[in-house]
Amino acid sequence: MVMIRRTFIAACASAAVALTAGTAAAAPKEVKLGYALAVNSHYGAAAKAWADSAEKPRAAHSPSSTSSSALGGERELIEGLQLGTVEAAIVSTGALSNFVSDVGVVDIPSCSQTKHARAVLDGKFGQDLLAKFKQRGLIALAWGEQGFRHLTNNKLAVKSVADLKGLKIRVTENPVHITAFRTLGAAPTPMSWPEVISALQQGTIDGQENPISVLTSSKLWEVQKHLTLTSHVYAPVVLVVSPTFWGGLTDAQKAAFTEGAKAGAQASRAFVDDVEAKGVELAKSHGMQVVEKVDAAAFRTALEPAYKQYAKKFGQPTLDAIANVK
Ligand code: PAF
Repeated sequence: MVMIRRTFIAACASAAVALTAGTAAAAPKEVKLGYALAVNSHYGAAAKAWADSAEKPRAAHSPSSTSSSALGGERELIEGLQLGTVEAAIVSTGALSNFVSDVGVVDIPSCSQTKHARAVLDGKFGQDLLAKFKQRGLIALAWGEQGFRHLTNNKLAVKSVADLKGLKIRVTENPVHITAFRTLGAAPTPMSWPEVISALQQGTIDGQENPISVLTSSKLWEVQKHLTLTSHVYAPVVLVVSPTFWGGLTDAQKAAFTEGAKAGAQASRAFVDDVEAKGVELAKSHGMQVVEKVDAAAFRTALEPAYKQYAKKFGQPTLDAIANVK
């Protein structure tokens, strides 16, 4: 994995984030913004928009970011935020639910549409969830997006639930995802993202599941033959900062930094809208075999035992509240 670190002065929008001490003349204090994927990804787009917005004088920030898991896997990034060794990050809910367990509720496989998912996250439910991060030593500022997760693998064209039997699928270190794939009959293998490409190359796992945004930015066609458009779960991301960094900002800087995070979140969504429109054709052009449609109802039926576990864990009223958001 390549660490990319360029300064704002060198006119690069993605390198390591810096915060001025509050006066125009003060030397910028560097703020690390980490994320798992390449600069040319929805995370890179979010980091750039966050940085561009934070550069405004009111925020007194001079931005940059560290891409491609150079600061470690998402678990390490989150721990870094808690410890204050990382100031800002863009992370998926994959690892986050090990820190803020209530977040797992948004990782439940569902037939939700993008519009609905965005309404849930931008509405009271999602904002209340962001507020819960504080109790876990994290300041969550906005919900960004990866898109719907789909399955890739090297063994077979997965067309039905039966085809998943015994398939070794890398999943995030997320109890909700693990339960789902176990219930579907696969052999879910939780693994940190930086290990996934070599595990796919070596055949220690057969496949993985991630949105088109990750497939294209990580060029997964180099290590995977089959793509099945399962759309099994919407994947949000969170733009988070460390309480140590946050505590050193003025109220005006906090407001401006939050505005920047919201701009970053919107940029990730715009990137996803764009890449979802063309990413499947791109995957095909690189030789991937694509199963375009699965029987979603059959997947849902197979997942019934998992839904019972989720209802027990998160409470049926919570699941209903999400489903009823307009
Ligand atoms: O699968 C994951 O772990 C995440 O979706 C990824 C690729 C690290 C992006 O946050």
